Amino acid sequence: MDFGLATASIYVTRRLPGKVERKLSQLFDVTLNRDDSLPSTDTLLHAARNADGLLVTITDRLDAGLINALPDRLRIIATFSVGFDHIDVAAATKRGITVTNTPGVLTDATAEIAMLLLLGAARGAANGEHIIRKNSWNAWAPTGLLGIQLTGKRLGIYGMGEIGRAVAARARPFGMEIHYHNRNRLPAELERGAQYHTSLESLLRQCDMLSVNCASTPQTRGSLNAERLALMKPGAILVNTARGDILDEEAVFNALLNNRLGAIGLDVYSNEPEIDPRFQTLPNSFLLPHLGSATHETREAMGFCATANLEAFFAGRIPPNKVAVKSSH
Ligand code: DGY
Repeated sequence: MDFGLATASIYVTRRLPGKVERKLSQLFDVTLNRDDSLPSTDTLLHAARNADGLLVTITDRLDAGLINALPDRLRIIATFSVGFDHIDVAAATKRGITVTNTPGVLTDATAEIAMLLLLGAARGAANGEHIIRKNSWNAWAPTGLLGIQLTGKRLGIYGMGEIGRAVAARARPFGMEIHYHNRNRLPAELERGAQYHTSLESLLRQCDMLSVNCASTPQTRGSLNAERLALMKPGAILVNTARGDILDEEAVFNALLNNRLGAIGLDVYSNEPEIDPRFQTLPNSFLLPHLGSATHETREAMGFCATANLEAFFAGRIPPNKVAVKSSH
């Protein structure tokens, strides 16, 4: 069924790149968020009263309560993200609301940030930066500010989807040996020599550095807990560009304190933008504010991808990135 593009009303919850907003305005009757204020649940529900579709981001929590309160005319929720853990897809599906995401377009940008975290954590970049900014650098020292080299180390990848594989592709030229754990073993052409571990425990025991690249699902949430972190080699490095809630942050902090972990690099946190302030006090933490997809190119591509999903839907086609209820990493 063709719902009619120009007449479809879309509420866009956050400010998007200019080119994307212009494209959306050409196609639909859009309500944009000019000042980029974070909409409360009430604001979102109020705006949704006159909307046929929502274009949301990871800062909007669309739980079952909110989804059940949406008007009957609302037919699609297009998220400007690959992750959709902020949307209760089962509740949406039950109400006949289509949910779409933006896979693929942020793979490279996120893999670049994973490499930045690996390098930043392994080489103590935050501490080094801090010393320069504080003007407290005394002299170069043969034994000072020593980090760990990536060359020759085993990189464990937890979640070998598109982003995990893009991290592997960047880590290989650094001389790293790639190991991974995934629900299923990949075909050889995608593995490219990486060693598969049937269990997360086995991967943790073997790797010197771990990159978290799985989606946040009921199976992965909290999976890097104290028990599992204790399996890692003393001094191992952990980086996370996926979702904060995959880590038990209390356990990660304790593992850093007792040197089970040598350093961490985090781009995502379980209660963003709140961060456990103790992480900020550690010299061996390298912390970024969810920058994984934050490049001009990628944010535009994400916007155009979300727009294409809406366009297909209102033209009566199946959107290219329709999310399935049980989908995960
Ligand atoms: C996503 O798209 O899920 C990312 O976390 C946003 O950077």
